[in-house]
Amino acid sequence: MKICCIGAGYVGGPTMAMIAKQCPDIPVHVVDLNEARIKAWNSDELPVYEPGLLEVVTEARGRNLTFSTRVEAAITESDMIFISVNTPTKTYGMGVGRAANLEFVEKCARQIACVSKGHKIIVEKSTLPVRTAEAVKRILSSSGNGATFDVLSNPEFLAEGTAVEDLLTPDRVLIGGDSASAIESLAAIYARWIPRERILTSNLWSSELSKLTANAFLAQRVSSINAISALCEATEADVDEVARAIGTDSRIGPKFLKASVGFGGSCFQKDILNLVYLCEHFGLQEVATYWEQVVIMNDYQKRRFGEKIVKTLFNTVSNKKIAIWGWAFKKDTNDTRESSAIYVCRDLIRERAKLHIYDPRVSQAQILLDLQNAMLDSNGQLSAVDKMLIEQNVTMAADSYQAAENAHAIALLTEWDEFKTLDFKRIYGTMPQPAFVFDGRNILDRQALGKLGFEVHAIGKC
Ligand code: NAD
Ligand code: UGA
Repeated sequence: MKICCIGAGYVGGPTMAMIAKQCPDIPVHVVDLNEARIKAWNSDELPVYEPGLLEVVTEARGRNLTFSTRVEAAITESDMIFISVNTPTKTYGMGVGRAANLEFVEKCARQIACVSKGHKIIVEKSTLPVRTAEAVKRILSSSGNGATFDVLSNPEFLAEGTAVEDLLTPDRVLIGGDSASAIESLAAIYARWIPRERILTSNLWSSELSKLTANAFLAQRVSSINAISALCEATEADVDEVARAIGTDSRIGPKFLKASVGFGGSCFQKDILNLVYLCEHFGLQEVATYWEQVVIMNDYQKRRFGEKIVKTLFNTVSNKKIAIWGWAFKKDTNDTRESSAIYVCRDLIRERAKLHIYDPRVSQAQILLDLQNAMLDSNGQLSAVDKMLIEQNVTMAADSYQAAENAHAIALLTEWDEFKTLDFKRIYGTMPQPAFVFDGRNILDRQALGKLGFEVHAIGKC
């Protein structure tokens, strides 16, 4: 058995590294068109920051784990091919802003059809709309070399920041397909380290739809608690107390009830919008509207946070220095896709605030790129005013202290652990009074900060 994976991103890289680690006898070849990314996978500066990942990669790399740009060779040599390419929301044409862009998946399927010989198992690892496997099968059936294929759906449930742990001990692995022998070939690989009872099998369509549904349910919990956070602020209830009270009901459970400045990441919004598009396609308008509200609530939560800063700072932030702590969409990752920080900061910049930004894992170039992309108009252009605002109103800070020096307010947007243990007495001494803190993750000790003199605003607390 030889395996390859097309797409060396946040999913392809860690997932294949774990398979290679657990199955030293199986050669695993991860390929990507992006040369810089492959170069990084072959170095000690991995393109993906994940606690524990470097150790897993280092153990297997050079033994049975290879990263390269040789896509065709990898396909030709492999018995099992994972497709783990990006499936972003469409930015043009039919289904714009909702449907998944499947061009990268289709390109992979065509390339596999073109160069394959003999029999191969194709595994959909990317998150795909239900019934995509039908299209993949049709494209594969056009192979001119007499090759035959089984197509499996094996969606990935890892979360960034805990990818290694999630891959080592997943709640479940899901394999959908219509060939029992192909399903068993893949199940046997996972069974090397995952108990059999956690390896679920289903038909292809249930598997594809389960992935979209899992993300929709998780995001719905965050939007639900965030909706309640607004009511808490209006009523002197405390959202963490409410979350604890409801989360101890075993039917509800404690996870994913952390109120925040809004969920981010590359998948929740994209996958819900994809679900919404599918429902509309099948004429299920009420179902579409129901799920879309999860995204609408999330946009509201991000906007509400920025507006609260402006209102609290006496209705103007023009030319006021604001420290931004955190840019990644959650802690322990360098991924910034759809991070709430981007949208809060875009709104503050347009209010003419002077932002001093610090994130322990995100580069200055990435932050500037994210802001530019968030400020593009409907024609994809950056207006002269927005360009000037980014140039003049955004400064990168080397650490939290530098960001906060002389700042009217601190906005904490990512829950990095290091923000909890800072010397707040020192920080208070460097800020003009009143010194405001807006904790978008509810991780700071409000009482202790209040005693030092800070005015602290958190989510869902008065
Ligand atoms: P990513 O953008 O980090 O990586 C995708 C990679 O595929 C890129 O490096 C790109 O260059 C490469 N690629 C695209 N087309 C290619 C082609 N034709 N040939 C070779 N390489 C190609 O994306 P990701 O975050 O790893 O997500 C991949 C898929 O997994 C998506 O469908 C996503 O929804 C799903 N997913 C992501 C996560 C997550 O936490 N990021 C978790 C579960 C599932
Ligand atoms: C999520 C799912 O958790 C994974 O199971 C799934 O595989 C993945 O999407 C995917 O398909 O890409 P991820 O986006 O990496 O994983 O990270 P999460 O831990 O789910 O966090 C998503 C966002 O929700 C973050 O911005 C996080 O801060 C926020 N969140 C999460 C909250 O605001 N409150 C919570 O209680 C939980």
